Amino acid sequence: MKRTIVTLPGDGIGRTVLEEAIRVLKAVGFEADYVEGDIGWEFWCNEGDPLPNRTIQIIEEHKIALFGAITSKPKEEAFNELAPHLKEKGLVYSSPIVALRQHFNLDICLRPCRTYKGNPLNFIRRGANNTIEEPDVDVAIFRQNTEGLYGGVEWSNPPKKVYEALLTHPRFVKNFGDVPVEELSVSTRIFTKKATSRILKAAFGHAKKYGYKSVTVCEKPNVIRETSGMMYKMAREIRDAEFPGIELWNTNIDAQMMWLTKNPENYGVIVAGNMFGDIVSDGFAGLIGGLGFACSAQVNPETGIGVFEPAHGSAPKYAGFPKSIVNPIAMIESACMMLDYIDEQGFAGKIRKAVAEVIEEGSVQTYDMKKMTGSQEAIENGAATTRQMADAIIAKLG
Ligand code: NAI
Ligand code: MG
Repeated sequence: MKRTIVTLPGDGIGRTVLEEAIRVLKAVGFEADYVEGDIGWEFWCNEGDPLPNRTIQIIEEHKIALFGAITSKPKEEAFNELAPHLKEKGLVYSSPIVALRQHFNLDICLRPCRTYKGNPLNFIRRGANNTIEEPDVDVAIFRQNTEGLYGGVEWSNPPKKVYEALLTHPRFVKNFGDVPVEELSVSTRIFTKKATSRILKAAFGHAKKYGYKSVTVCEKPNVIRETSGMMYKMAREIRDAEFPGIELWNTNIDAQMMWLTKNPENYGVIVAGNMFGDIVSDGFAGLIGGLGFACSAQVNPETGIGVFEPAHGSAPKYAGFPKSIVNPIAMIESACMMLDYIDEQGFAGKIRKAVAEVIEEGSVQTYDMKKMTGSQEAIENGAATTRQMADAIIAKLG
């Protein structure tokens, strides 16, 4: 059966890297029809909605989407750029990628970070006797993608009922009881058992399937006792009941950020709530080359809907270049995650092998890999363009 893939180019370099990823998918022989979905700034400005309903519908229909990146701007700027006829409508901008995650309940976010041999951006550390060590990182981070601190349940000057509810907590009375309500800002951190169980089971399932020996819950249960505490407790129960062969580790997010430069090779699967998952995945991504290499999958195992995207944004300062300089590997690797998800591991494996070979050979490197400042001169100074990097990968597909 020929697949239909929804492409969501979005804004800025999202458009460029997505185009290259599709060229790679075609070159490897993956057969699909591509339908483009409208998303991003242009649709906010002209229609007042960065995620038009027609886009939701085609994702609903075809289930699998490749997403580039979008541009978000602060409230006032967003309003100013609205088409004149939309300015009276009281529209408020909100990020279409967050909206997508919530609309389709894409609560499982996977961000793998694996060292590429020969990547000049690999993390190195000093070993004994002044030696230099380059630890092999192979970590799969599972981030709960819809709840927690990014769940959007928050207030400044909270309404009366919320304030009254807060007053029922002795700690609130003790620490904040004499603060005038209009001087309070409150952001909630809500975890549900259902979503927590889903992300934990996805993490353990991944560890089992791919042979990782440990799952680390990276939270802060000694301080954030209810939410982090619940996640760790549930992790223990799930491990004991369903995954007895896998070690369960427990780290605090702050200590984890310190350890990740000390012993990153010790970690396998890491699982965390929304914000800590965001933080720890950026931390590990930094060890394997940063934004040009960080890929992700966001899926809902119940509906099968999945959106695959690089972790980077639209990088507007590089978007207008006549020759694009950004690294397409994060997007291409995200496309590989899509292939894994739809059981096309053969194609994914071929592309990953080609990417690894290009990086190891080192003759084609984008400006970030050459540690250059991002500018058009980078190309004159020997950096590959986005297109040249994709071409080099395609040439290795054989
Ligand atoms: P960004 O990720 O777009 O860029 C930050 C910097 O990282 C760039 O200036 C560049 O130096 C580097 N970089 C990013 N992608 C790269 C690549 N493929 N190759 C080489 N270098 C790369 O983040 P920034 O500048 O904070 O945000 C720009 C816009 O993107 C904002 O409007 C923001 O809201 C949006 N954004 C969208 C995301 C999404 O669509 N999921 C995620 C993050 C930001
Ligand atoms: Mg982030």
